[in-house]
Amino acid sequence: MTANLSDWMGRPRCDQTPAWRELGRCFEQTGRAFDLRQAFAADPQRAARFSVLAPHVFADLSKNRLDAAATQALLQLARECRLEVHRDAMFAGETINTTEGRAVLHTLLRCPRPAPGHTGAPALQPLLNDVHTTLEAMLDFAETLRADPAITDVVNIGIGGSDLGPQMAVLALDAFANSGKRLHFVSNVDGHELAACLKRLQPRSTVFLIASKTFTTVETMTNAHSARRWFEAEGGGALDIGRHFIGLTTNLAAAGAFGIRTTFGFWDWVGGRYSVWSAIGLPLAIAIGAQGFRDFLTGAHAMDEHFRTAPLAENLPVRLGLLDVWYRNFYGFTSRTIAPYHSALRRFPAYLQQLEMESNGKRVDLAGQPLPYGTSPVLWGEPGTNGQHAYFQMLHQGTDVVPVEFIAVIKARHDLPGHQPMLLANALAQAQALMQGKPDSGGHKDFPGNRPSTFLLLDDLTPASLGALIALHEHRVFVSGSLWGLNSFDQWGVELGKVLAKDIEPRLASGDTDGLDASTRGLIGRIRSIS
Ligand code: F6P
Repeated sequence: MTANLSDWMGRPRCDQTPAWRELGRCFEQTGRAFDLRQAFAADPQRAARFSVLAPHVFADLSKNRLDAAATQALLQLARECRLEVHRDAMFAGETINTTEGRAVLHTLLRCPRPAPGHTGAPALQPLLNDVHTTLEAMLDFAETLRADPAITDVVNIGIGGSDLGPQMAVLALDAFANSGKRLHFVSNVDGHELAACLKRLQPRSTVFLIASKTFTTVETMTNAHSARRWFEAEGGGALDIGRHFIGLTTNLAAAGAFGIRTTFGFWDWVGGRYSVWSAIGLPLAIAIGAQGFRDFLTGAHAMDEHFRTAPLAENLPVRLGLLDVWYRNFYGFTSRTIAPYHSALRRFPAYLQQLEMESNGKRVDLAGQPLPYGTSPVLWGEPGTNGQHAYFQMLHQGTDVVPVEFIAVIKARHDLPGHQPMLLANALAQAQALMQGKPDSGGHKDFPGNRPSTFLLLDDLTPASLGALIALHEHRVFVSGSLWGLNSFDQWGVELGKVLAKDIEPRLASGDTDGLDASTRGLIGRIRSIS
């Protein structure tokens, strides 16, 4: 896996390309005053023209402020920034995570055997063999645990990518959960969370999954040690810690030192926020079984193949990533809201927050030089229809334009009459209302309309379609990050706070505030006076 520096590292900066200048012209000529209602009136084929079908996901992009000229200029931008070369370098296992000196190969985790011919990199074959050996061991373990009547509860202790992915997926696929086990997720170092969880558990019937890529993350280690103390205090000493604590980590030595005997490993080329496909996905495998987990991987692989092979104009991750650049850098929109019209996807916005904002929330290029344009938008959202009764007021009538991403699922997996048509009608109506608006001379009841949205539609929410939906977003984030010239695969921005917390913690006990700023000093003083 040697980096082929000449191919992808010297890509031009997006704002220094002819296509960027062309986009500027498009924005001035038609973008700034773009009106969605006029665009639909002028082109009866607009909905079809701006729809893209990818594996498991149909996307209607037509309610976006985008015309054919801007679309062509965006596609040209992707070509001039050599997006495809960068993408292929990722799939080939080149060291595209330059600040950490690592390849980025989460796609290999869902690559079927035999050889990943598509990567054109025979060097990846041994890695793929390892991936499948670990996957099989992990799925065997999941099946054994599922069949063990002595175990009733499984607690995943992990944070960030070691929590958000598996938790989101377990909730999303609740309709497929058939293990009879209760799954719990503890992430926060706030002891309320672990304490509330432990209250409901018996050590004899509980398995703890200690999920941490590094096995050093302070929240996870604190929770893991507290869980082990509880286990021992409740008589667990006589039981087998080795049987009740399982490690999901790349740091086998640290897991061993903790007393863990069963560990499912992964590799440094799997980023934390891209790790749900690895051993970190064990909670999902326990919930839905080995076949369900394989289907989840298969759906993601189908999206990988789409991203890797579809022409740019028909490539959904590419189209969405380009739209993100268009909105962020030309319209200046600073946020995007996610509206999943399926309650099982309620943690999907939180999952996407880490995926997109930890990947692209950066302000320097690969060489560490400041960039003169905006990057990651703020992502936020709640499931529909709840969001409608909270912040949709602002989306319809507020001063800021926030592009909305609707995610709807056609098939329901319940048989309550009337609910699903009502849910879908609401999703459609909100998108329609945002776009059409409604003039009213009174002011208060005036809806300006022309508010953009994307509509992602799944036939059904299954392991395969969820896998595809997640992979779609991973690749879309790759696209915008690549065009912005970022390293989307490191996360140095989370380090400083961790270091400062280590300094502050002993000061809370000692009262030593020397060298601290006045605000932190004051807050420490107040905390100490009350506690
Ligand atoms: O602090 C950020 C982070 O490093 C994330 O990138 C990661 O997903 C999370 O912490 C958890 O890390 P680990 O799996 O090593 O405990």
